[in-house]
Amino acid sequence: MKKLSDEVIDRLVAAAESVRQRARAPYSGFAVGAAILDGNGGIHLGCNVENASYGLSVCAERHAVGAAVAAGSQGLDAIAVVADTTPPTSPCGACRQVLAEFGDMPVILANLDGVRTVTSVVRLLPEAFGPDVLGTYNESMDSGSQ
Ligand code: THU
Repeated sequence: MKKLSDEVIDRLVAAAESVRQRARAPYSGFAVGAAILDGNGGIHLGCNVENASYGLSVCAERHAVGAAVAAGSQGLDAIAVVADTTPPTSPCGACRQVLAEFGDMPVILANLDGVRTVTSVVRLLPEAFGPDVLGTYNESMDSGSQ
């Protein structure tokens, strides 16, 4: 996992704070922005988009992952999440699982008052189910040991 410079953290938090203003959250009123740094230094954004069928609402983090993948990102290096809470908001369980698919990376949690915490995907979701498990399972199936 790469160590992030203060300058990169500042850029990611500013980008997440900015896209947070585009959140569509008419039901909860809870606006979230996320910014992902990819392996080429590109930044990809997401905000939460809620739906009248509440369960179809999608978090900012998962939209940022989708934007990065759609842009052709090869590897995700970090994500910043911004919401107006103290302490800063941490990704929900579903988003932790989606992020874990891309390996460990720093997760910057920030609010609008300048509070920042840097954690990581592995710290947020230890012992995650991931693609490595399926790889091992498929290999054991191929060798006929199951
Ligand atoms: N939400 C996010 O977008 N990211 C989080 O990390 C926590 C929750 C959204 C989902 C929903 O639109 C609203 O915040 C309230 O749960």
